[in-house]
Amino acid sequence: MRVAYEAAAPRVTARKTIPARVHLPTVKVAAAFVVEPMRIEHIPAVSAIEKLSFPQPWPQNAYRREISENRMAHYIVARRIGGYEANAPPQLEPASQLSQSSDLIGRLSRFLRPPEPPRSPQLDEELRSIVGYAGIWVMTDEAHVTTIASHPEVRGQGIGEFLLVALIHRSIEVGARWMTLEVRASNDIAQRLYRKYTFKEMGVRRRYYSDNGEDALVMWTDALDSDSFQSAMEQNEEKLAERLGSAEVRLGGSVWILSNG
Ligand SMILES: CC(C)(COP(=O)(O)OP(=O)(O)OC[C@H]1O[C@@H](n2cnc3c(N)ncnc32)[C@H](O)[C@@H]1OP(=O)(O)O)[C@@H](O)C(=O)NCCC(=O)NCCS
Repeated sequence: MRVAYEAAAPRVTARKTIPARVHLPTVKVAAAFVVEPMRIEHIPAVSAIEKLSFPQPWPQNAYRREISENRMAHYIVARRIGGYEANAPPQLEPASQLSQSSDLIGRLSRFLRPPEPPRSPQLDEELRSIVGYAGIWVMTDEAHVTTIASHPEVRGQGIGEFLLVALIHRSIEVGARWMTLEVRASNDIAQRLYRKYTFKEMGVRRRYYSDNGEDALVMWTDALDSDSFQSAMEQNEEKLAERLGSAEVRLGGSVWILSNG
């Protein structure tokens, strides 16, 4: 990642379809972390992490549109089940602040919008448990990673990798055969994460980021059903499970369980 919000679809030639045969583990254990679909109610927590993670954060209404209107989009959140208070996002914005635009229309639309109902204690707890989020757009057999971030207080603990693995799982489930993304040329940490999962630099978008004119590297995975990709998944999964304890991906009606047990 990361695309500017109105970024164009990846420019690639069509490839012929071959059947997917990617191995994913299915061992049953209690989950310490869970990945679930992002819901509108999650946006204040997502936005708080977004602002701590990106120089050009997407406004909350961008996430609202992505979730409710974009049929190509799949957005997820990672939550810690239990023991998350110490690392809770420092502040959550009212869900009613859907636009951060300071122009007249933005201010008027905030003023005219009916007040948001108070959050239930259950929802507050759910929001505090969110430690990261990510998204893809799926176009035919390609999944374009649009965003991925873990809360700064939990970085280095496997959450970013868990989110990427969940996106991979979802991409395979919905029929994608390759994954692609843009990443800042200077973002070594994210690039290292992507390389673990066979992402390779295939091009450069010059001066892609308008805040500092930085180039974006365009990275693509090996085919998701290739031996090289499967082998990278298998090697990384075991280490990730050790790191996280255990974790579940609950997306699209299926549950995928990652375990070190
Ligand atoms: C990129 C990001 C999502 C990684 O999340 P994370 O939770 O810290 O990552 P993980 O703990 O799962 O680490 C996974 C891999 O990332 C890389 N990585 C993470 N932290 C690193 C660090 N401090 N130095 C070097 N590599 C690092 C490593 O390859 C690591 O695997 P390893 O531990 O086996 O070496 C996180 O740093 C982030 O949110 N950054 C800000 C937003 C951003 O830049 N997003 C990507 C936009 S393209």
